[in-house]
Amino acid sequence: MGYKIAIDGPAGAGKSTIAKNIAKQLGFIYVDTGAMYRAMALYLLSEGIDLKDEQAVSINCADAYITIKYENNEQVVYLNGENVNGMIRTEQVSKAASLTSVNPNVRKKLVELQQKLAQDTDVVMDGRDIGTCVLPDADVKIFLTADSRVRAERRCKELEQKGEKCDIDVIEKDIKERDYKDMTRDISPLVAAEDAVLIDSSYMTIDEVAEKIIKMSIKY
Ligand code: DC
Repeated sequence: MGYKIAIDGPAGAGKSTIAKNIAKQLGFIYVDTGAMYRAMALYLLSEGIDLKDEQAVSINCADAYITIKYENNEQVVYLNGENVNGMIRTEQVSKAASLTSVNPNVRKKLVELQQKLAQDTDVVMDGRDIGTCVLPDADVKIFLTADSRVRAERRCKELEQKGEKCDIDVIEKDIKERDYKDMTRDISPLVAAEDAVLIDSSYMTIDEVAEKIIKMSIKY
């Protein structure tokens, strides 16, 4: 069966950093489901599909062959045989993924892949619908949030470290818009599972959050 830790929450709450940290400490596999939605969006962009055309997205998503491999303890996403890890973190792909992840065919395809990856393995999986939809029987479910201003500050720091300029007000506005879209979509909206534990990471360090989650896990 494997032991399952599901971490859901809005963008910038620290899910991937914390999930990776926990997976490393517990020796579990880390599955970043957002990367799969990003790879799918990259495919649809590269094919020139109108992302607002639901039928076109539904039909064309069938041709994206997305797989996950683990190389040097890192999750590597392959799109039709090509390693796309270096191409899926742009603003263009973020926006496209937010649009295309509402499509039921896209979700069905990727949820099946995620469930397969978690079969018979100990996993920490992060996303938006892991506790509610992908792994409803997860052993530990976390809903990780942080104040939108704090999330914007974190994002700005990341961009500045890459040498890019940032306007914190614009970033916060983008974050709020994306939250709204993720929370109000019809299929698998971002909501905390009834049995999820809510953690607000605004004023906690990564280690504090990771420790809190590990303590909830019976394998600790
Ligand atoms: O976590 P992220 O920013 O890499 O996610 C990219 C997009 O994919 C984001 O708009 C939300 C969407 N997503 C989703 O709908 N369901 C998931 N399980 C993970 C991500």
